[in-house]
Amino acid sequence: MSKSKDDHRVIIFDTTLRDGEQSPGASMNLEEKLRIAKVLEELGVDIIEAGFPIASNGDFEAVQEISKAVTTPIICGLARAHRQDIERAAEALEPAKRKRIHTFIATSPLHMKYKLQMEPEEVHQAVIDSVTRARNLCDDVEWSCEDGSRTEPDFLCRTVESAIAAGATTINIPDTVGYAIPEEFAALISMLFDRVPNIDKAVISVHCHNDLGLAVANSLAAIHAGARQVECTINGLGERAGNAALEEIVMTLRTRHDFLPYDAAIKTENITKASRLVSAITGFVVQPNKAIVGANAFAHEAGIHQHGMMKHAGTYEIMRPESIGLIKSTLVMGKHSGRHAFRAKLGELGFDVGDNALEDAFRRFKDLADKKKEIFDEDIIALVDDEVVRVNDRIRMGSLKVVCGTEGPQTAELSLDIDGDVRSTKAEGDGPVDATFAAIRQLFPHEAKLALFQVHAVTEGTDAQAEVTVRLEENGRTVNGQGADTDTLVAAARAYVNALNKLLTQREKSVSALSA
Ligand code: KIV
Ligand code: ZN
Repeated sequence: MSKSKDDHRVIIFDTTLRDGEQSPGASMNLEEKLRIAKVLEELGVDIIEAGFPIASNGDFEAVQEISKAVTTPIICGLARAHRQDIERAAEALEPAKRKRIHTFIATSPLHMKYKLQMEPEEVHQAVIDSVTRARNLCDDVEWSCEDGSRTEPDFLCRTVESAIAAGATTINIPDTVGYAIPEEFAALISMLFDRVPNIDKAVISVHCHNDLGLAVANSLAAIHAGARQVECTINGLGERAGNAALEEIVMTLRTRHDFLPYDAAIKTENITKASRLVSAITGFVVQPNKAIVGANAFAHEAGIHQHGMMKHAGTYEIMRPESIGLIKSTLVMGKHSGRHAFRAKLGELGFDVGDNALEDAFRRFKDLADKKKEIFDEDIIALVDDEVVRVNDRIRMGSLKVVCGTEGPQTAELSLDIDGDVRSTKAEGDGPVDATFAAIRQLFPHEAKLALFQVHAVTEGTDAQAEVTVRLEENGRTVNGQGADTDTLVAAARAYVNALNKLLTQREKSVSALSA
């Protein structure tokens, strides 16, 4: 694949399932990855980077299963410059209709000297060998120069030229540590176009991290300078401050087409659905003021703004909420709403849940409607998100009864269903949350440490649902669990149990300490 600067179509390469998943606590199981891959396909992304097959059996299986189940986008697997990595990636991608091997090696002086402990000449040879090997196994090969933005310009030009000569069809320039400034990064891309003689034989891609909050700005500057592929993630998920956010890049190209006349083939009406699914599965809550997908991104509360909006939406709104799939609610839900209306409401909110999850969510909706005067869309979103993350859980919440107040001891009576075996216990603790978590530990002994306990109210009022996040750490592994309920302690127990289930999945994966 090659692309000249005159072709204004930008390829969207989504790496939520690879770089996004590398974010501590964001790990996903196979079922969850498949669900996200399907939504990315519906969204219209061109390429899905589905994992790093050599990293673990779980990653290998995810790439393999996504290759079977998802047919429209190209499926990509990551590989270091090693022979085993490249062969393992090719093996995982075998069932894919359209596949890509993405191989990388660091090229900056700092990374070559301290991380790789290799001389530049050795790295140069490894580029040629790895790309040649990958190209013998797959027609579509992407090569990345890790820490590209801090690489010596002469060495960068030389390695890019050699990678293309060895058969790379896409050259990716990562700003691995999120250090670049837009003008500088654009100049780097322009330099490649000016100095690399065979540059027209490959697509130039960029991959920006957000350490200085500039990932999207750097990606857009690079497109303006000739890059025709951007690597990004839903909600900007990714290590440290994350990767460039797909939704921000795509909506900027769409909204400011006058200034940035480039097109992506994304069906933007599916953005909200993708954002919610990724947030629900990973437990990474989207900040309310996040561009495009934050809960407040289209909320106009100030009186002066509302007045303007009533006269003409364009006064304060540069994008229509419908363009990202946010539809003004037409269905009011209450305790008399039936299954049919509930399903229609879920459709309106952009959810596409399986029959079992729908039944469970409907049962919980009925319970909620008995307890709560008004049911808001946010309540239903919290409830469905809560069900979505629980499919295939080995440990399930049963009942919980807590005694708390000024007169101790605080106690929790809890039952859990563990692999189909229902067990109950009673525990004391220093407060009701401590007692509840102690009861969970009695029923399912483990050494994981509680690293975060966070509660937030889904809506206003004392009858609001609580949404709880619990982070557990065990042997360097971090997982986030989520739970929602009108009873904060039930939500806390659900979140803890959810985190434990994720830890079990993590234990099953033989994660090797690979850095990328
Ligand atoms: O940030 C980075 O450099 C990467 C590469 C593997 C593309 O993720
Ligand atoms: Zn990265």
